[in-house]
Amino acid sequence: MSLRGSIYKLIMNIAGKSSHGIEIAQTYGLNSAEMMEYIYRRVPTPVGKNILGYWADSIFLNFPTWKSLRQRKQNLQHILYYIIKGRLEREPEKEIKILDLASGYSQYIFTVLNKLGDKASKVYVEMRDKNIVCGEHINNANKNKYNVKYVKADILKEEDYDLSNTFDIIILAGFFDSLGMGEANKIEHTMNLVKKIMNIGALFIFSYQALHVDTALVNELFNDTYGVPLSMGERTGIDIKFLMKETGFNNIGQIQDSDGCYPVVISAQTDTVIDYIDKILAMDNKQQLK
Ligand SMILES: C[S@@+](CC[C@H](N)C(=O)[O-])C[C@H]1O[C@@H](n2cnc3c(N)ncnc32)[C@H](O)[C@@H]1O
Repeated sequence: MSLRGSIYKLIMNIAGKSSHGIEIAQTYGLNSAEMMEYIYRRVPTPVGKNILGYWADSIFLNFPTWKSLRQRKQNLQHILYYIIKGRLEREPEKEIKILDLASGYSQYIFTVLNKLGDKASKVYVEMRDKNIVCGEHINNANKNKYNVKYVKADILKEEDYDLSNTFDIIILAGFFDSLGMGEANKIEHTMNLVKKIMNIGALFIFSYQALHVDTALVNELFNDTYGVPLSMGERTGIDIKFLMKETGFNNIGQIQDSDGCYPVVISAQTDTVIDYIDKILAMDNKQQLK
């Protein structure tokens, strides 16, 4: 470990133990669903076991990456809201089937469904994650009023895909983001699996990490959701474009946070056209869905 990493590790071990956020990162992994839920929800209120922990937690919560990830969530909600609303308006009788892969708590979907009101009854959502407990908890908190199913699945395993179960919108947020530079094959593999379960005209909406303030440091300090040291990297738009081309996806449009760290890409096989795409992508039109 570098000298810088050792110093940060020491500080984390002293102050971090009493910061709730750092405790979650150390227990579940920096890219875990539990971590995402904490950083989406806790701002601006840090939680610490004592004044030192409170101070450490406020520093942790204000880490610039978290700000970008909160914006990524907003962007995802914005995109989902307009796409689902547009489809329901065009074909009001038709059910929309949504699949959220590596879904975590997937609170963003409930935010969108709440916003859609009665129309949400036409939406079927399936969430797949290696750890589904968190999602069920949220669904219970929403009084199970939506048509949601949870499946424990490894999204990298072909045998976990039922090819007869196909979808109109497939989401993958926060998964490609934490893959290492040597793991582009996992992105390509996932894209190849996803395209097998897309209905005609379906959309694949995913995020990736284009920039990070300090991957070297976080990789030294934290483990991933499997308990092994993080090895995340950054990917250029060109890298992603190449993988999309290899797997037959077109980039229909994308939105990113103000620091350009986490683009959310709307893609489709072949030449799917969304006639309301300009509205979705208009930044000044962006709704802050709460
Ligand atoms: C960074 S979180 C993203 C959660 C959510 N999609 C979001 O954007 O807030 C990554 C999630 O991927 C899940 N995950 C990681 N590897 C997975 C795999 N191979 N199959 C299914 N889920 C996986 C983790 O359990 C975790 O919930």
